Amino acid sequence: IDNGLALTPPMGWNDWNAFGCDVSAKLVEQTADRLVSSGLKAAGYQYVNIDDCWLTKSRDVSGNLVPDPVKFPDGIKGVADYVHSKGLKLGIYQSAGTMTCAGYPGSLGHEQQDANSFASWGVDYLKYDNCYNMGLPGKQRYQAMGDALARTGRQIVYSLCNWGEESVASWGGSVGNLWRTTGDIDASYGRMLSIVHQNMPLAASAKPGAWNDPDMLEVGNGMTPTEDRTEFSLWAEMAAPLIAGTDLRTASPATLAIYGNREVIAVDQDQLGRQGVPVSTTGGLDVLAKPLADGSVAVTLFNENTAPAVMSTTAAAIGLPRAKGYTLRDLWAHRTTETAGTISANVPGHGTVMYRVAPTRTPERYAPDLVLRTSTPE
Ligand code: DGJ
Repeated sequence: IDNGLALTPPMGWNDWNAFGCDVSAKLVEQTADRLVSSGLKAAGYQYVNIDDCWLTKSRDVSGNLVPDPVKFPDGIKGVADYVHSKGLKLGIYQSAGTMTCAGYPGSLGHEQQDANSFASWGVDYLKYDNCYNMGLPGKQRYQAMGDALARTGRQIVYSLCNWGEESVASWGGSVGNLWRTTGDIDASYGRMLSIVHQNMPLAASAKPGAWNDPDMLEVGNGMTPTEDRTEFSLWAEMAAPLIAGTDLRTASPATLAIYGNREVIAVDQDQLGRQGVPVSTTGGLDVLAKPLADGSVAVTLFNENTAPAVMSTTAAAIGLPRAKGYTLRDLWAHRTTETAGTISANVPGHGTVMYRVAPTRTPERYAPDLVLRTSTPE
C-alpha cells in the first residue's frame, strides 16, 4: 500500500522460527543489542518483531489486549522504548480471527481498539495472522485492520500473514505492505524449495510498498551453509523481506556473515523494487534475473539438484543491452571478472551463484562524467 512505508522490502528479525512461543522482553532486548553489536543494524536490519504468545489468555474488563506480565514485565511499551533507544523499530503480531494460532485473543471484531493499543505502545510493524478466521473473506478481514491502523495516524508497516490463500498476491498490495505467499517455512531444504517454487511466479505483484513474502529466513537454523546461502540469495533476488529467524545472540560468525552480506542485501534493497523473474527453469536449474536501478542486472544460478552442475545464461537473456563486454561481480566470492556475454558457473548441489552484471564502461563514457564532476561548484 501507498503508506510511504516499505519502499524497499522490510529487514529485521522475528522470534518465531527459532523460539516458537518462548518469547520475552529479555529476548527481544538482547536481540536488539546484538543487531547493533554484530553490525547487522548498520547493514540495514531495522525491525525487531515479536510473534505469537505475547498475550495473556483474556482481555481486560475494558476489552483491551493484555501483554503477558511475566514475559513482558514493562508491557509492550517498555520493550518498544528500549528498541527505539537503540535506533531500531518494534513489530508485534496478531491474528485476523477470534484467536491467534496459539490460542490467545484475536483481533477480529476488535480491530480499532487493538490498533489503538499498538499505536499507543509505539509499535512500528504488525504481522497479522490468519487463524480462527470464521471462514470470513480474507480481503475484508485484512482491510478492516488496515483501515484501523491508518486511523491511528501512526506509521505502521502492515504484514499480511494469510499463507498465500485467496490469491492474495492479486490484492495484497492494495491492503498491506507485504503478504505471505505460502504456508510456513521450516529449516529444511525441501520446504524452502517448495516455497521458492510458489513465490517465483508472482514477480508481477511486487513493487515499492508492496512485496511478496515467502516467509522469514531460516539461515542459521540447521540447513547446510550452501543451502543457507541459497536461501539468502533467492530471497534477495525475489525482493523478499529479509527477516532473520535465528538466535542472533548465539549465531556463528558464518551465519552472521550470510545475514550481513551487503552486496546481496543491496540487490534485495535496490530502489527499483523489482522482483527477479525466471529466465529458465529446466531440469531443476533455475536462472532468475532482477533488473537494478543502476542498469545492472542481478542474476542467480540456482542448482536445485544434489549433483553439481555447470549452469549458464547470457547477458542478452537476462535483459542487458548489447555491449563490448560485461563485468560480473560474484556477490559471495566478492570477485569481479569480465565476459563477452556468457554468464556461467559450476554450481554445487543445492547451491546458488549470484552475480551482479553490468555492461563494461568504456573510457569514452567516463570522460564526460569527469568533466561534469570537476566543473560542479562546491
Ligand atoms: C502461523 C504463521 O504463519 C507463523 O509465521 C507464525 O506466526 C505462527 N502462525 C504463530 O502461531
